[in-house]
Amino acid sequence: MTSQRTSIHGQWSSRWIFLLAATGSAVGLGNIWKFPYVAGENGGGAFVLIYIICIVLMGVPIMMGEIMLGRRGRQSPINTMRTIAIEEDKSPRWQYLGWLGVIAGFLIMSYYSVIAGWTLAYIFRTGAGMFAEATAENVEGLFNQLVNDPERLLAWHTLFMVITTVVVSRGVKSGLEQAVRFLMPALFVLLLVLVGYAISTGEYFNQGLRFMFEPNFDQLTANGVLAAMGQAFFSLSLGMGAIMVYGSYLNRQTSIAWAALSISFADTLVAMLAGLAIFPLVFANGLTPDQSVGLVFKTLPLAFGHMPGGSFFGALFFLLLAFAAWTSAISLIEPAVAYLVENLGMSRVKASAWIGSMVWLLGIGSLLSFNHWSDATLFGMTFFGLVDYLTSNIMLPLGGLFIAVFSGWVLWRSSSVEEFDMGDGLGYRLWLILVRFVAPFAVIIIFLHAIGALN
Ligand code: PHE
Repeated sequence: MTSQRTSIHGQWSSRWIFLLAATGSAVGLGNIWKFPYVAGENGGGAFVLIYIICIVLMGVPIMMGEIMLGRRGRQSPINTMRTIAIEEDKSPRWQYLGWLGVIAGFLIMSYYSVIAGWTLAYIFRTGAGMFAEATAENVEGLFNQLVNDPERLLAWHTLFMVITTVVVSRGVKSGLEQAVRFLMPALFVLLLVLVGYAISTGEYFNQGLRFMFEPNFDQLTANGVLAAMGQAFFSLSLGMGAIMVYGSYLNRQTSIAWAALSISFADTLVAMLAGLAIFPLVFANGLTPDQSVGLVFKTLPLAFGHMPGGSFFGALFFLLLAFAAWTSAISLIEPAVAYLVENLGMSRVKASAWIGSMVWLLGIGSLLSFNHWSDATLFGMTFFGLVDYLTSNIMLPLGGLFIAVFSGWVLWRSSSVEEFDMGDGLGYRLWLILVRFVAPFAVIIIFLHAIGALN
């Protein structure tokens, strides 16, 4: 019986810890660094609206599917998918879905660590008072100075990879439980402080609000819609098995629907607050929203440079952001590590060291694409751009599509009813309609639209 299966990697000590860990996975650079800049590049309001629709119609139901499959399979995503497929008399080839996820996590982590390295650098930069009374030009100059220095970037990237790998090698539970319990709420409070600062810019705050929430569909291209969907998957850590692997350490008493709703809500709230903190600063300082990967690093230091106690709050903010990145990073490589432990019988330490070194190496490609290789492009994208596009906009939605199809069509209804433990009433039916029809078709239509097949 599936309900007797236990994970060889251990179990969360309580359902709160699962909630915290999964929220820790979801909330990260995706909310604070990526969401604002991708929204900024895609014209604001209409992008944000599509993003929220994707969270509700695809994100929440697919997250429920992932947690359910993880808890049922209790192994790395690859083995979970294989085991469940066989149990349901379906093709073991479903394990390739697990592979897709492991590879996506691996690729994402390679650049994620580079950007997390920037936040590490900014702890010291803000702490040292580098931005006191700075102008927009000063702040931009300092950002460019950092990204144009590959050696410094390499040092930070290496440090971040080491920290992450060490924790993963000790087993996810012990390190994570403490970190998320206190640090995530603290980050949230600091974000509120930053939004408070943004409100003090008066008219500019309203301009930021309008930019984020007044949909102007002329600004949105098919690729922008694809980016909004990709961002929804990325931000919720969906479509690659991160949430699945965390679900595999979950006990049977937790309500999956409730968990998916609260994680998605918290994640979206943090992204919105980040936008509300950042866009007013963009307008107040005569910048434009399309600052690409540098947006956060070119705006928030302006706030810290001008508010009382700014160096302290700035250093604390970037420290907490680095923590948030770290709790996400762990979940990016955990599926791969769990797989090596299960299938090659490696120790956790050895498996983490292997994965960590390979990701580190690949990350150097992204690191160089911000400086020496910035002119080397393929399809108009740098190495970083390409890895990001491939993972967020293609691999994660594709993974999510198959997770939806698997949990809605392939898995026997009796299995999902049993696993959710909420009967087969209205809530269950709604979920079933979303994973069977709405989510898969939405992904396919957005894909087709983006490659121009529907125009
Ligand atoms: N959701 C994380 C963030 O927003 C990134 C992530 C993506 C983590 C996919 C795990 C899996 O920063």
